[in-house]
Amino acid sequence: MRQREHLTPYGNKPMVTPIVSAVNYEYVSFEILRQITDGEIDGYTYHRDDNPTVRAVEKEIAMMEKANDCVICTSGMAALTMVFLTYLKAGDQLLTFHDTYGANYKVALILEKFGLEVTWLDATKPEKVAENIKDNTKMILCETPSNPLVKIVDIEYLRQQADRVGAMLVVDNTFATPYHQLPLTLGADLVIHSATKGLGGHNDLMAGVIACPKREYYDELWFTRQAIGTTLDPFAASLLERGLKTFEMRAAKMAENAMAIAEFLSSHPKVTKVRYPGLLDDQGHKTASKQMKNGFGGVLAFDVGRKQSHAKKFVEKLKVIYHAVSLGCTETLVCLPVLTTMLYLPEERRTTFGVKPNTVRLSAGIGDVEELIDDLKQALD
Ligand SMILES: Cc1ncc(COP(=O)(O)O)c(C=O)c1O
Repeated sequence: MRQREHLTPYGNKPMVTPIVSAVNYEYVSFEILRQITDGEIDGYTYHRDDNPTVRAVEKEIAMMEKANDCVICTSGMAALTMVFLTYLKAGDQLLTFHDTYGANYKVALILEKFGLEVTWLDATKPEKVAENIKDNTKMILCETPSNPLVKIVDIEYLRQQADRVGAMLVVDNTFATPYHQLPLTLGADLVIHSATKGLGGHNDLMAGVIACPKREYYDELWFTRQAIGTTLDPFAASLLERGLKTFEMRAAKMAENAMAIAEFLSSHPKVTKVRYPGLLDDQGHKTASKQMKNGFGGVLAFDVGRKQSHAKKFVEKLKVIYHAVSLGCTETLVCLPVLTTMLYLPEERRTTFGVKPNTVRLSAGIGDVEELIDDLKQALD
């Protein structure tokens, strides 16, 4: 069981971390204020600096990711942006992969405006990383499994490449979650999450996580968060804490359901391609088996028929499975990435990495797998 610490005046420990909604705190004395600001004691002054409800969840997620500490912020994209703002500057190269969450492309456009160089590579061709590493490569960012095509990149290989030029390796672990993968133990410098997804798990909060293996990184990221004001509000932190109580159970069931769904879809004549790292013939299976545990996550991608109209018809016929974006929640969701998460990407970029107009992304929930497969079957037939 996890050990919890609560900063509470109640004598006994509350079973749930109290929601501290205060934005500011009355200074008990100048001496206490000095001790807090000098870091001699833990304490709070202003919400943008820190909040006890948020802090309790940070400590819990740090334990889950085998991290020294963790910084929580307002969204997954805020987490990613904070990492860029903290560790990159004009003239630096960020090396990343085509198959990553669509909004990364938008953030890259902003980075380019500030003089950064962003290089996009095919995740299935690791040798391209070696070819594109340069003296100004300061960061490698990957998602594994990736969004939406669940491609796998070898974290240990990326570590070796990053070491050639002293670059940081940042892994977005949103799809895998700490239940399946611990990137810090494989050499990553930072782990990012959209906690809006599997960690929260109920479609009712938005949050981002940056897990750090060293105190130094925590301090640097904390400085950025405090400066720009991306501190999470305590109500969302409390919902996240509640989500974490059932996280492992949910992650296990989602992976079990995703595997059964992937096997069913692989044998269906109307499904032209299934991508799931748990399938033996999947491009990422070998590496995923090496770096993931307890299964392969809850998300898969597949192509329905040959045209977008085939995929749309299939989605419209679903009765149990929801047509919605996001992933990692209790319900099973499907969406067409080209009409949703990848909408703003230039056409040639989508096709380069293999997302088709008829590609469907499915996030398996925790429902009865027979019922989910029956729903898929009636919608495909
Ligand atoms: C892999 C991945 N990273 C980051 C994000 C962004 O997270 P958020 O929506 O919490 O900003 C998402 C969102 O879907 C995602 O799938």
